[in-house]
Amino acid sequence: MKIGIIAAVQDEIKTIHDDISFDKEKVVTHAERQYYLGTHEGMELVLVYSRVGKVAASMTATTLIEKFNVDLIIFTGLAGAVSKNLNRGDIILCDKTYQHDFDGRPLCENQFEIPLTNRIFFETPQTQLNIAKKGIENFLANFNKYVNPIDLQKLEVDKPKLYVGVIATGDQFIQDIDNQKTLYINKVETLAVEMEGAAVAQVCSEYQLPYILVRIISDKANDSAHVSLQEFSVKAASHYASGIVQEILSLLKTN
Ligand code: ADE
Repeated sequence: MKIGIIAAVQDEIKTIHDDISFDKEKVVTHAERQYYLGTHEGMELVLVYSRVGKVAASMTATTLIEKFNVDLIIFTGLAGAVSKNLNRGDIILCDKTYQHDFDGRPLCENQFEIPLTNRIFFETPQTQLNIAKKGIENFLANFNKYVNPIDLQKLEVDKPKLYVGVIATGDQFIQDIDNQKTLYINKVETLAVEMEGAAVAQVCSEYQLPYILVRIISDKANDSAHVSLQEFSVKAASHYASGIVQEILSLLKTN
């Protein structure tokens, strides 16, 4: 099996690359991206930074499929909380995603609907959702092996939880969630917002390729959303991403 791993944050690439052994490693530069290729415990891996936004992520996912022939894509990154129940450090496993800044009317009937697909949402395939859920549970059970508790305390992360639910994607860093009119929050329970997931989901769906989308809550999508994003990303989220990917890979290996 060949697995594409995309991270939406450069720090995550570094940590995943440092932590996971890439045997027979090769780096291929293609269209302004570095693709790290290697084998790990019998699986072929391709690791790449998506860059930011829907176009960048679509292009990266398409390249992984067309040029590197991956069989599965695992995508990790940060997200802003939409649901008030969420806290920094919580983990969202996406079961379905939509583009909150898409409005193709009158080309299609509904706001958020993607023309020609008749769909608003792209769902993660159930098999991969189950594997990812188990992997994240294993990560949380071994949390202190991956993340430094002193760093977490400083970053005010306390007892992170896993939520499975809806992620909204758009080409906008949201810092005013309470004033957002376009998000679909009144009709579905949107948990979190980010800038790439629905694009990767649509590409994978059109290629009929399975995928897993995981996000770590870094902020509450309000006016302090940008504060210490960098520190959280280096000290916490990149280790989450690496640990979650490692746990998912070990389940894929045994399946
Ligand atoms: N990624 C992390 N935080 C975000 C936010 N507030 N808006 C969009 N993408 C994000």
